[in-house]
Amino acid sequence: MGNTLDQSYVTRSAWKPDIFKGKVVFVTGGAGSICRVQTEAMVLLGANATIIGRNVAKTETTAKEIESLRPGAKVIGLGNVDVRDVNSLKKAVDHTVEQLGKIDYVIAGAAGNFLCDFNHLSSNAFKSVISIDLLGSFNTVKACFEQLRKNKGAIIFVSATLHYYGVPFQSHVGAAKAGIDALSNALAVEFGPLGIRSNCIAPGAIDGTEGMARLAPPSATPFVNKIPLQRMGTTEDIADNTVYLFSPAASYITGTISVVDGAWWHIGGVMGDLYPSIVEQANNDPETKL
Ligand code: COA
Repeated sequence: MGNTLDQSYVTRSAWKPDIFKGKVVFVTGGAGSICRVQTEAMVLLGANATIIGRNVAKTETTAKEIESLRPGAKVIGLGNVDVRDVNSLKKAVDHTVEQLGKIDYVIAGAAGNFLCDFNHLSSNAFKSVISIDLLGSFNTVKACFEQLRKNKGAIIFVSATLHYYGVPFQSHVGAAKAGIDALSNALAVEFGPLGIRSNCIAPGAIDGTEGMARLAPPSATPFVNKIPLQRMGTTEDIADNTVYLFSPAASYITGTISVVDGAWWHIGGVMGDLYPSIVEQANNDPETKL
């Protein structure tokens, strides 16, 4: 799944080929569709990388595939690392420093999501998503902080737009992503004097991603023509934004949320005629899951 990059990115993108030469990026969720392509762009433009995931085979295979994009690139894939566990992240950071020398950039991208209305969303389900998305993002920066401080690094959190308004069946992720935005803003202020920058990227509807497969609006609802730019986003759109935010061109940019959604969220949701019937059925189920 996902639209991946190839060597042509180096010549057709707006970026200088070696812009990240000698730099190292640490990416949670790096085998997933969006964070994989963020990593690909960084590696194609000169960086080495570590990608972190829970699935060992998927993470290791993806790392090899990304590594093959640029001769001389080093990409480490570390599976069986859960961002909910700060100690397993710290081990991944130590391994990265041992193998690649340092960490300059961090992408906190690991996320969990599913559509579920409040009535059927258990307390444990809510906690799982908050723990992966919000606590996991905190843990990622916590484990990398020493390196970020030493190298005057930069952080990108992968956020969302769905907490800008009320999106049904996304209360858990909306709460988590709102927390991530708040975390990033606070870190931008705390870390500014250290020379560390912190920003969020908020993707909209990105084609070919796990998020779209899990969360696409019901097929009865046409939505692409409701996106002001009249197309879905691509993983390359997110990669380009990532390169920009880590590049020297963004050296004065911190504490921002970069929305990459073709202005979709300004339309105010995609439920259209399906609302409120779409929530009525869920609300009326007499059995509330605790
Ligand atoms: N709808 C409602 N509840 C769900 C659910 C769904 N689709 N999927 C899981 N849950 C609930 C479980 O029932 C459980 O609650 P319970 O103990 O009260 O029954 C709780 O969530 C935790 O489930 P578990 O499978 O133990 O969680 P996990 O921590 O292993 O997995 C998830 C985390 C649930 C977020 C899982 O979807 C996941 O691992 N996702 C990773 C990939 C991903 O979501 N990517 C999204 C990119 S946008």
